[in-house]
Amino acid sequence: EKVVLAYSGGVDTTVCIPYLMHEWGVKEVITLAADLGQGEALEPIRQKALTAGARESLVVNGSEDFIANYAFPAIQANALYETRYPLSTALARPLIAKLLVEAAEAHGADAVAHGCTGKGNDQVRFDVSIAALNPNLKVLAPAREWGMSREATITYGERFGLEFPVKKSSPYSIDQNLLGRSIEAGPLENPWHEPTEEVFAMTQGLASTPDDPDYVEIGFTQGIPTHLNGTAMAPVPLIEQLNQLAGRHGIGRIDMIENRLVGIKSREIYEAPALMVLIAAHRDLESLTLTADVTHYKRGIEETYSQLVYNGLWYSPLKAALDAFVQQTQQQVSGRVRVKLFKGNAIIVGRQSEQALYSEELATYSEDDQFDHRAAEGFIYVWGLPTRVWSERLRRG
Ligand code: ARG
Ligand code: SIN
Repeated sequence: EKVVLAYSGGVDTTVCIPYLMHEWGVKEVITLAADLGQGEALEPIRQKALTAGARESLVVNGSEDFIANYAFPAIQANALYETRYPLSTALARPLIAKLLVEAAEAHGADAVAHGCTGKGNDQVRFDVSIAALNPNLKVLAPAREWGMSREATITYGERFGLEFPVKKSSPYSIDQNLLGRSIEAGPLENPWHEPTEEVFAMTQGLASTPDDPDYVEIGFTQGIPTHLNGTAMAPVPLIEQLNQLAGRHGIGRIDMIENRLVGIKSREIYEAPALMVLIAAHRDLESLTLTADVTHYKRGIEETYSQLVYNGLWYSPLKAALDAFVQQTQQQVSGRVRVKLFKGNAIIVGRQSEQALYSEELATYSEDDQFDHRAAEGFIYVWGLPTRVWSERLRRG
């Protein structure tokens, strides 16, 4: 049996290599590390997999695909799970699943594997995405079944000559990519405990943000971020630069208790500076360019969309149908939004679009007013008629 294993270089995925071979009789393990802009050197990670017994160790750069085809559609959908979490981890899973399936097919593997535990959302996202992309592939999840504690896992690895440097091991579980960082566990498991500055890496604490604001102008083309301060930018550098700008001002920190699909509530800390700014700016541009009914209807679509992504249904028929709705709405969403970055806030201070439905002649209270005030009277009579009838009926008793 030949297996492609999703590989991060961490303890669990490293121990998965000998475990798959010695406990589950896998002949050949091919590891795949996805570069999603997590800012780690991947060559040592590639070597580590070979040392642990992998036959081949693949590194695939998925950053461009990640931003253009996973993050940007989510921005068009203003996707925030439970109105707050911008899905920075959740969006990476269907892409990693795709890379695993492609590698399995290219190498003639019978199965793919991942190191997720049985308590999280990530296992669901991997398993369901892989099944959607190639239902003939088996999915192996050793860490879901081996029942070993962290210490036992390390001891098991040491039997096969693996070394896990006794780094002052961080009590936190951290997932990171170009969009953001997700931090959980350790002292954060107490929901009353305030996160200390050490958990953050992309954002400054408010005590050390600049005392003067920065302004950034974000250009959108049909709902896709394409420009920063008037300069056309490719997806990856646009996110990188905006992460820097917004992170410096402490923007994009989230602290929440969230509902996992597996029924557990968990305390999560996120930082996602660029993503949070882009969603706020995009939503604002929609308020300028979409009609009231589309805007209001889209809110419901956005909530369902966010749940689908969180719950691992990126590749699903309902998600595809919602994508079609969102894409249709985005044709008019082009223009620019001016954002003031200051003390943890991304404040929208201006918006502009050739497709704007906003009309100054209609909105103004000055003498240029073109709104027919007399027309309001008849409208209000008809609009209020059901309420008037109801009230009269009530008074008659
Ligand atoms: N709770 C978040 C999510 O479901 C983050 C998960 C982070 N994963 C991790 N291995 N630390 O998307
Ligand atoms: C995990 O258990 O793999 C991390 C947490 C999550 O997936 O939600």
